Amino acid sequence: MSNYHIKHLEEYYQVYRKSIREPENFWEEIAEEHFMWRKKWDKVLSWDFSKPEVKWFEGAQLNITENCIDRHLATRGDKTAILFEPNNPDEEAEHITYSQLHQRVCKFANVLKSQGVKKGDRVCIYLPMIPELAISVLACARIGAIHSVVFAGFSSSALATRINDSDCKMVITSDGSYRGSKTIDLKGIVDDALEDCQGVNSVLVAKRIHSEIEMKAGRDHWLQPLLDDASDVCKAEIMNAEDPLFILYTSGSTGKPKGMVHTTAGYMVYTAYTFKNVFQYREKDVYWCTADIGWITGHSYIVYGPLCNGATSVMFEGVPSYPDFGRFWEIVEKHKVNQFYTAPTAIRALAKEGVDHLEKHDLTSLKVLGTVGEPINEEAWHWYDDNVGKKKSPIVDTWWQTETGGIMISPIPFVTPTKPTYATLPFIGIQPALMDENGQEIKGNQVDGRLCVKFPWPSMARTIWGNHQRYKDTYFSAFENKYFTGDGALRDEVGYYRITGRVDDVIIVSGHNLGTAPIEDAINEHPAVAESAIVGFPHDIKGNALYGYVTLKETGESRDQNNLRKEINQLITEQIGPIAKLDKIQFTAGLPKTRSGKIMRRILRKIACKDTSNLGDTSTLLNPEIVQGIMDEAL
Ligand code: WTA
Repeated sequence: MSNYHIKHLEEYYQVYRKSIREPENFWEEIAEEHFMWRKKWDKVLSWDFSKPEVKWFEGAQLNITENCIDRHLATRGDKTAILFEPNNPDEEAEHITYSQLHQRVCKFANVLKSQGVKKGDRVCIYLPMIPELAISVLACARIGAIHSVVFAGFSSSALATRINDSDCKMVITSDGSYRGSKTIDLKGIVDDALEDCQGVNSVLVAKRIHSEIEMKAGRDHWLQPLLDDASDVCKAEIMNAEDPLFILYTSGSTGKPKGMVHTTAGYMVYTAYTFKNVFQYREKDVYWCTADIGWITGHSYIVYGPLCNGATSVMFEGVPSYPDFGRFWEIVEKHKVNQFYTAPTAIRALAKEGVDHLEKHDLTSLKVLGTVGEPINEEAWHWYDDNVGKKKSPIVDTWWQTETGGIMISPIPFVTPTKPTYATLPFIGIQPALMDENGQEIKGNQVDGRLCVKFPWPSMARTIWGNHQRYKDTYFSAFENKYFTGDGALRDEVGYYRITGRVDDVIIVSGHNLGTAPIEDAINEHPAVAESAIVGFPHDIKGNALYGYVTLKETGESRDQNNLRKEINQLITEQIGPIAKLDKIQFTAGLPKTRSGKIMRRILRKIACKDTSNLGDTSTLLNPEIVQGIMDEAL
């Protein structure tokens, strides 16, 4: 019997040791006993981080949707798979059972086929959090098409970059979306994006807000009539273990977004196994992750992980503040949610509203609380623990990344004693390492360093779409023979990990990863701007907010600064999306630079954080005189 479900701490240590000593035997047992294979593997693992190349379950054949849906039909056909809660609380929730999900995914898959989509083709999905989003993801997987979901808050220009980078042939979208009291014209954004995308020959449009939109003849099709005509029988395409399942873009510190490629078998095994343990999911539980499926958290822990376990997964279309800040708690009460997984930024926003909203609702169904996306501060952790969990529901602070596919460091609830702000222990099979600046591993406890992983795990991304060299340079070059996460961490006296934050130029704002370079590129396109630099500074709710230092061309100096600020944020909204807007924009005469011409962000960061007591040695700068001026005028 494999250890699929860990129930006490001793067992965790025992299973962890086994997973490190005999990783292949360990993962083979898990894979064998808990999943449905069309053909078993020839080899469990082959790997070489110097290339880098990693293969899990090579030779195996499967379809992930048979694991997520078909195999549950006999025992859980009438169980709710997806519980859709609409933006508007007056609209009825929709319970989609496993049988209905099967039917809807098969129909959708047949529509994709009828539009000429084949195994290996890329399909871009740009949808709000409506059932069609989960269904289209699964429909792609059913026929072996590679889905690339783009979060529906990105701008048309960001969408076009992503469509073109992976050469998508189809886009799936809706007429629009609801977001609190607002509606957003998604189809209009897609139309703008497609002006720059030659490869897309078909657009499927789901009806959500019933707005008048333009449909381009020959290219655009309403989804519903096609679904009505489609057969609900669709044999699952048989995929190889290492066939790509999806691409998901994440921001890098430089350059264009990176299309992380996840493959089939390892991703499935790891997301399912982590879901079961990190949330201690039991058969009758209702699980709710508030993320958007446009991010990795939604892929792994709304869709694939939960469905592989036959779980009931809540999918929420709206926002925590609509119609008021009690919405999350109203949903918890209404659907008797047992596991609740959200982001620190949401917790802080809710905490700011006080406990009145909480007190109006019965939250006794809650058993496990989760957090993800950025370090959780101590105050938010305690607020969550005291008021939401009433000190009875353990908090799982789960550290992981788009690149890791699944949760890497996290408590197992009722198993691992928690500690505020600590992600605690590595999950089964995960071998973290802390590295010093000279590239040496720091052993022992009570140390801090750069967080790496020194052994492959099943759900790691295998490459960056179209750019394997960049994959190697970004993740496998900083430290020999190790995957570098880009995060810093410390390890306490008992071996618990606390993630301290990014050590590169990625800034996490409200849980969204933003690279500084693309934002600076957008600003620099303004005709009055000569140069710019972005840094993060602490923000009560968003965790970090963005601070921009902008130098103007001579022609721009006479312009009204408030108008310029608006125009700059408008440019950022158009090129990336509203999530990347700057909170503060300071116009400066110049930017501090090293003699080789590199902007000294370290100094700018300190000024933005109002921490100027120790700026370090500025005498080696090319232009040390500039620093005092920036400090004097800081916002
Ligand atoms: C950060 C989200 C501290 C971290 C699943 C990581 C965290 C980046 C935590 C990945 C956590 C995520 N504690 N920091 N529990 N979870 N992060 O790709 O910096 O959107 O590298 O994946 O978020 O963000 P991504």
